[in-house]
Formats: sequence, structure tokens, C-alpha cells
Amino acid sequence: MTSISGSTVLVTGGQRGLGKAFVDAALELGAAKVYATARKPRPSADPRVVPLALEVTDPSSVAALADQVRDVSIVINNAGVTLRKPLISTAIDDIRNHFETNFFGVLRVTQALAPTLAANGGGALINVHSVLSWAAGAGGYGAGKAALWSATNSFRVDLAAQGTQVVGVHLGYTATDLTADLDVVKSDPFDVARDALLAVENGQTEVLSDDVSRQFKAALSGPVEGLEFALVDGHLVARHPPTSTTV
Ligand SMILES: NC(=O)c1ccc[n+]([C@@H]2O[C@H](COP(=O)([O-])OP(=O)(O)OC[C@H]3O[C@@H](n4cnc5c(N)ncnc54)[C@H](OP(=O)(O)O)[C@@H]3O)[C@@H](O)[C@H]2O)c1
Repeated sequence: MTSISGSTVLVTGGQRGLGKAFVDAALELGAAKVYATARKPRPSADPRVVPLALEVTDPSSVAALADQVRDVSIVINNAGVTLRKPLISTAIDDIRNHFETNFFGVLRVTQALAPTLAANGGGALINVHSVLSWAAGAGGYGAGKAALWSATNSFRVDLAAQGTQVVGVHLGYTATDLTADLDVVKSDPFDVARDALLAVENGQTEVLSDDVSRQFKAALSGPVEGLEFALVDGHLVARHPPTSTTV
């Protein structure tokens, strides 16, 4: 188990959206220092927040970050982008570029910082997935988050010997820039981030932050058609809930 209080935390994409909420929640839970990255970092008024530059698609940027955060014990891979097009009609280059951020970006940061976590006693690695890791019809975004879910589960095995707690977070629509154009019901990012950090403190390895994430996790054991999603009254839901597909 990993205590947030007194810890030094890194949040990729920590200057806005869910990442900024992770920074605020970590500080509320007593973190001593939080590194908050952005591609063009802005100064912070809070002396506990250290803004740093990071472009996750650039190996030299990731290496430079790793040099600057030698005291970190909790790494939160939050940075990500969306891609809302059907997989069948998305250009391969667009999918590859998307994976560069949402999949390879997380791999780069994790590989670069795993030795630091080991040197600092193990600590915790938190990867931000999505309910769409498990949903059918979520295009390149869903494919990237599914790949990331798999990677997180492998990192849990890889990093067990060094005592790093590896945590995957699944969430549905949350009120950030990423969903600003969507007229849907959204969670409060601070609640999502705080619940995820508390789950880390409680020794959990997977965080299902809302009803739709719990619904899709349960649907994994049913027919694959149960993984299709729909929007009903602004809520993301399973198109065929298990009860309607069970004979
Ligand atoms: N919002 C939702 O409904 C929702 C649902 C499920 C999962 N998620 C996941 O939650 C995470 C945060 O998303 P959000 O909703 O907060 O999105 P957001 O408001 O659009 O913020 C995206 C963040 O990612 C960073 N980022 C994007 N590309 C980057 C790159 N190439 N290198 C470094 N940083 C990069 C951005 O940093 P800059 O400041 O440099 O732009 C920004 O901080 C993502 O992984 C997303 O997939 C979100």
C-alpha cells in the first residue's frame, strides 16, 4: 500500500483536466510535492507544485523528465488524447499517431521512471484507462485504452519484485476539455482523482470510478455483444445489458 501523505507525485498532463484534479487531490491528501507536466508548462502559484515540460511522444523529453524527478514515488500516467472515429474508416497513420500518445507515451514514461520508483522504495504507478478499454465500437481510442489496460496488467507483474503497486483507473465521461463538446452526463474530475488516490492508499489495484465502469467490467464475463455501448439520456450504458442477452 502507498501513502499519499508526505509523498512526491508526478502527474503527466497535470496542468489541466483530470490531471489537474489529480494534482489538487494529491495535495489535499497530503502530498509534499507534485510535479505537474504540460507540453508548455505554466508557472504555479502553489510552491508544492513543480511544473515541468513533457511531450510523451518524444523520447528525449521523457528522458529529460526522468532526470528531474529523482525523488518521485508515485507516477500518474494521465496524459491522453481522444479519437472519435470508427476504427474501420480511420487512417492508419491517425491510429498510429494516437497510439504514440495514449499507448507508447505511457510505456515510455513507465520504462523511464521504473528505476526511480525502485530506488525510492517501490511506490505506485497509476495508469488512467477508460471504460472504453472494455467497450466495443470505441474506435482507435478504445483500442489504445485496451492495449494500455493490458500493458498495465503486465507492468503489475514486471514491477512486483521491486514493490511497485500498479493501479489501473477506469472512468466514463468526466468534465474536462476532452469532453467539452459532448452534451452528456459527466463526473466531476476531482471526485474521480480523489477516489483513485484513496483506492491506492487502500491497496487496490483497479479503480472502477463510476457505474458505467462497473457495468462494463461485469459485462466482460458475458457475451461479447454485451460490450457494445449506447448513449441513453446522456448516460453511457451497455447497449445490451447482461439481463437482456441471457437466455
Ligand atoms: N474526460 C473523460 O471523459 C475521460 C474518460 C475516460 C478516460 N479519460 C482519460 O483521462 C486522461 C486525461 O484526460 P482529460 O479528460 O483530462 O483530457 P484533457 O482535458 O483533454 O487533457 C489532456 C491532458 O493530456 C496532456 N497531453 C495530451 N497529449 C500529450 C502529449 N503528447 N504529451 C504530453 N501530454 C499530453 C495534456 O497536456 P497539455 O496541457 O500539454 O495539453 C492535458 O493535460 C486521458 O488519458 C483520457 O484518455 C478521460
